[in-house]
Formats: sequence, structure tokens, C-alpha cells
Amino acid sequence: MASLSPPSFITFFFFFSAFLFHSSHQTLYSPITKDNFTNLYTLLIYLKTPPQPSKLHLDLGNYLPWYDCVRHYKKSSSYKPVYSNSSLCTDIAPGLYTSCIYPQGPGCFNDSCGFFPENPVSRKSATGSLLIDKFALPITTKPGPGPVSELVFACTDNTSYAKMYRGLAKGSAGLAAMGRFKYSLPAQVSRAFSSPQVFAVCLPGSSVAPGVALFNSPGPYYFSPGIDISKSLTYTRLILGPTGADTEIYHEYKSPDYNLELTSFRVNKRVVHLNQTLLSIDENGKGGTKLSTSTPYTLLQTSIYNALVDAFVKESAVLNLTTTIPVEPFSIEPFSVCFAADKVRSTRLGPFVPTIDLVLGNNNNNKVVWRIYGSNSMVRIQNFGFDGWCLGFLDGGLNPSTSIVIGGHQLEDNLLQFDLERQRLGFSSSLLFYSTTCANLGFSATKN
Ligand SMILES: *[C@@H]1O[C@H](CO)[C@@H](O)[C@H](O)[C@H]1NC(C)=O
Ligand SMILES: *[C@@H]1O[C@H](CO)[C@@H](O)[C@H](O)[C@H]1NC(C)=O
Ligand SMILES: *[C@@H]1O[C@H](CO)[C@@H](O)[C@H](O)[C@H]1NC(C)=O
Ligand SMILES: *[C@@H]1O[C@H](CO)[C@@H](O)[C@H](O)[C@H]1NC(C)=O
Ligand SMILES: *[C@@H]1O[C@H](CO)[C@@H](O)[C@H](O)[C@H]1NC(C)=O
Ligand SMILES: *[C@@H]1O[C@H](CO)[C@@H](O)[C@H](O)[C@H]1NC(C)=O
Repeated sequence: MASLSPPSFITFFFFFSAFLFHSSHQTLYSPITKDNFTNLYTLLIYLKTPPQPSKLHLDLGNYLPWYDCVRHYKKSSSYKPVYSNSSLCTDIAPGLYTSCIYPQGPGCFNDSCGFFPENPVSRKSATGSLLIDKFALPITTKPGPGPVSELVFACTDNTSYAKMYRGLAKGSAGLAAMGRFKYSLPAQVSRAFSSPQVFAVCLPGSSVAPGVALFNSPGPYYFSPGIDISKSLTYTRLILGPTGADTEIYHEYKSPDYNLELTSFRVNKRVVHLNQTLLSIDENGKGGTKLSTSTPYTLLQTSIYNALVDAFVKESAVLNLTTTIPVEPFSIEPFSVCFAADKVRSTRLGPFVPTIDLVLGNNNNNKVVWRIYGSNSMVRIQNFGFDGWCLGFLDGGLNPSTSIVIGGHQLEDNLLQFDLERQRLGFSSSLLFYSTTCANLGFSATKN
């Protein structure tokens, strides 16, 4: 298609009609559910013909969606394999092909294009092959499948089932890969509707009510009671890592991760000095800061963790909060800093504790601040006799591949806008500040 070169008035016509079409109704919606067993998240899509709802583990740092084609592919009249001689295969995974000794079907076609799906929790990968099927998401005004397009994804096969699904959010039939790759889920959705690559993620704060992902939408984002949160976003630069830091296989591919330029923390507005070497990404993709919805709590390299905890304990003492530990045999693992719940005042932004600021760079080389309040920094632990609020940041070890991995708990009830046109992340900080939550951005959330 791209090689055709029509007369310019036809070009103009197509461009103009596309513009009208998309500015009117192409925002697509998907509910995000929190699984309270793993504290991780699933996203709902419609796949196959007739369209069937499928829950996929939500991951912000993976290349290509993948799906359990062996146990979950009984009925679809529209799937087709991607053959290794196709241009699509050359574009996604050149040089890989698979064959299969079992009866041919989804996940098992001779001469089909190969890929290595990867579990973002365990970092285990396996062989798989590519498949295309019909795909839909609801439009924002109406539940159920909206306009139908196609999705290319990798099938996990027979042999890899256990290792590929262990650790994912419960009920996941595959992976919603939301990373920076031309065939990630948001990239495919934007291409199918010729829309700008801008999507938003709002993780729910509990398993009771879902949050939302919005595709093809720079805003507005209307939350009840009638506030447009797109007007309250602060923007930070997205940095492209040289290689997939944590990935075992895609050494030649650029990193799919959303890396941020974090330069320091502040606790109650006091700067916590950190080792700057650890905060930048080196030529091998090591170090730096990224977002992850496949880790429930933020992981910090040991020296960063110690610096943050020291500052937090010190500033808490100013508020007359002293740390407590439960009497044996009860445990607060994996947390180490907790306050007795009855000593902590509660506010609409969660327990009243020192604020933690992420100090970030923006596209104009200025600093911007992402403030984290008690609802995102603290975790309530009620464990037999113990009732406390614990600091929800964990020690990620002395030598992790990424120094700071910002996890799900710190992102909940924050609106995140991923703008790949401008290579920036818009963040709202806590929506509780605006007396709303991610569960209040529903089907009527965007005006058409
Ligand atoms: C590609 O491979 C498939 C399956 O082996 C075959 O049916 C098809 O004819 C091939 N197409 C081309 C263009 O070679
Ligand atoms: C697929 O390839 C395998 C291994 O090369 C072969 O044993 C099998 O017969 C082939 N199946 C079909 C349907 O061509
Ligand atoms: C999976 O493996 C079983 C035998 O272990 C086989 O009967 C079945 O056809 C295989 N299915 C696929 C899709 O490979
Ligand atoms: C987990 O969520 C389910 C469904 O919302 C609920 O029934 C259950 O009580 C929750 N479990 C815990 C431990 O919160
Ligand atoms: C900072 O981190 C780097 C990389 O781990 C390390 O080599 C260096 O010694 C650290 N600097 C200080 C002052 O601790
Ligand atoms: C902390 O406790 C001291 C002594 O009881 C009191 O004077 C001070 O006002 C308290 N500070 C706060 C922030 O509550």
C-alpha cells in the first residue's frame, strides 16, 4: 500500500477523510482489573470470530502480545498463520520459523513465523509462532466489542505452558504487551485506525472496581464528577533504552521499556542524594528507572533503597511516627518499615506520612515532580494481631539490571498518558487529590 503513489488530490481526500473519521469516534476502551492474589492486573480484549472476551496480563514493557493458543483456541473462524516467507514475518522476527509434528492448528503450523514470547514476571521465555485473528475493543460510549480489526500475536505452544503462565495475574490467557515496539498492542491499535500513538492507563486501587486503558486518545479524559484530567497532567521525557535490559532474547531490539529520567527523590521536600551512575542507563541497557505493571511494589537498588528508607524514617519521626515490628511469629515480609495503624492519621490521600517526590526531567531540560502520597506509598498489613501501614518500596538487590522499577502500587489511581508521538509521559499524581479514582473513568468518560 505504501508503495502506491496516487495523484495528490486523492492523497488529500484520504488524508482529510481520515482526519474527520478519527477526530470523531476512535477512542477505544478496555477495563483493567486488579487480581488481589498476585496484586497484578489484567486487560480485557475481544479476540476471534465470533468475538470472545479474553483477559490478558497487562505489561508495560514487552514487545508483542501473546496468547495461549493450545487451551484457549477451540472456536474461531478467522485465524490465520503468519508464514515465515511473508513480509510481516520479515518485519517482526526475521529468520525465525517453526514446524510442528501435531495436527496443524493455532500455535502449530509448518513454515510459520517464529517468535519467543516472554513472561514479564519470571522472565522465562519459550518458542512460539505468530498468528493473526480478528480483534476488537469497546468504544467509549458502549460496552461490548466495537470496530473490528486484526491483531498479530505470538502463540505459546504445548511444551511451554507451565513456565509461560506462572506468576501472571490470575485468569490471564496471554499477555497484553504495551511496550515500545511497532507491534505492541497499542501500536497495532493505533495503526489499525490511523490514529496518533497516544494511550492512557489508569490502574485500579483495588480488585473491587476496574480501572481503564484508553487507546488512540490524547484526551479529554472525563472523570466523574465531570473533571477533565488531561488538563492536569505534568509531562516527563521518555528515554529509549539501547537494548531490552531484562530480556533474555531480543538483544538486537531496542528496549520496549518506558524509561524515565529520574534524578533524585525528595522526602517531605528534602532531597535524598542518590548515586547518579545508577540512575542513568549505560550502553548495555543497565541502570536507570522504568515503569512496570508486572511488579506489585517499586524495587530499588540496595543503596537507593537504604537512602530512601533512612530519609523516610527520619521525616516520619518529625511527624511523631515511630516504626514498629510485629511480635514473632508474625511477619511483615517483604516490608521493613511499618507504623502501627492507630498511630497514623488518615486523610483523603491515604495515611498521613511524609510525601515522596520523584524528581524527573522534561523535554525542556527542566525538573518536574511526581508527588507520591500515603495511598501510593503505604500498604495496609493486617496479619493476625498486627495492624500497620508499611512502606511499599522493596530492596531490589545490589546489582539489578534496572536500578529503579516503579511498580503497580505506586501507579494505582494515577492517570498515565503514554505519548509516543512526542516521546513523553503525562502523569496526574494521585486522582484522590481530585476526589476521584481510576474506577470513575467509565464508558462515558470521553466526549465524542
Ligand atoms: C509461503 O509459504 C506458504 C506455506 O508454506 C505457502 O503456502 C505460500 O505459497 C508461500 N508464499 C510465497 C509467496 O512463497
Ligand atoms: C510438518 O513438518 C513436520 C516436520 O518437518 C512433518 O513431520 C509433518 O508431516 C509436517 N506436517 C504437515 C501437515 O505438512
Ligand atoms: C499438544 O500435545 C498433545 C500431546 O502431548 C497433542 O495430542 C496435541 O495435538 C498437541 N497440540 C498442539 C496444538 O500442538
Ligand atoms: C479478592 O477479590 C475478590 C473479588 O473481588 C473478593 O471476593 C475477595 O474477597 C478478595 N480477597 C481478598 C483477600 O481481598
Ligand atoms: C555508584 O554506583 C556505581 C555502579 O554501581 C559504582 O561503581 C560506584 O562505586 C558507586 N559510587 C558510590 C559513590 O557509591
Ligand atoms: C510530636 O510530639 C511532641 C511531644 O509530644 C509534640 O510537642 C509535637 O507537637 C508533636 N508533633 C507533631 C507533628 O504532632
